[in-house]
Amino acid sequence: MLITFEGIEGCGKSTQCRLLFDLIEKTRPGSALLTREPGGSRLGRKLRSILLDPTNTGLCSEAELFLYLSDRAQHRAEIIKPALQAGRTVIIDRFTDSTLAYQGYGRGLDLMTLKNLNELAVQGTRPDLSVLIDLPAEIGLRRALTRNRLLQQTDEGRFEAEELSFHHRVRLGFLELAAKEPGRFLVLDGSSDREVIFAGIKQGIGDRFPLLLPAPDQA
Ligand code: TMP
Repeated sequence: MLITFEGIEGCGKSTQCRLLFDLIEKTRPGSALLTREPGGSRLGRKLRSILLDPTNTGLCSEAELFLYLSDRAQHRAEIIKPALQAGRTVIIDRFTDSTLAYQGYGRGLDLMTLKNLNELAVQGTRPDLSVLIDLPAEIGLRRALTRNRLLQQTDEGRFEAEELSFHHRVRLGFLELAAKEPGRFLVLDGSSDREVIFAGIKQGIGDRFPLLLPAPDQA
């Protein structure tokens, strides 16, 4: 079972990934894996620091794309595929839809080309469920910048420094992707309280995959 979490900066998806992972692990220790893109493999962690470094201002869209794809290909081969083969539930903080939303809708690269390149990177590995935490770009960015300040990351990340219009396009891109595949996507309102969002995730998973989560009286 592969579950991905998607959304714009500051939407709260990393918190929700962790809550879901903790819930599954509480009932079946060792049965879940929580990972992320970029940065889920050793190579990926190096690529992540290049990708998020705000001083890398001159990166062209295609170079950026290939770094994300390189991260994904290695992550799939080294981490995701073995875990799925071992029967674990893999939860990923961002996956292929982020490339379509950011590099496609955000940067303007051709969506069909991106889908083919994603396929090359993942070799048929597809999410069973994708949770999209939707949030207006203004709110997400404000939250992300506040979080960076709290963590004393005084610099903005490379993406947080993008114009608001870029983040609007990314948000609309995610919503369009979700509308095209309503069976795979679960869309939740990221402006709700985190407990409310998590209740929506449990409900959505329970409806689709009744055996994955513990019964409510055990949770
Ligand atoms: P994170 O901060 O959620 O870990 O994501 C890192 C940044 O990378 C975020 O701004 C979104 C961006 N990103 C892409 O542009 N394309 C991708 O394929 C992925 C996985 C992330």
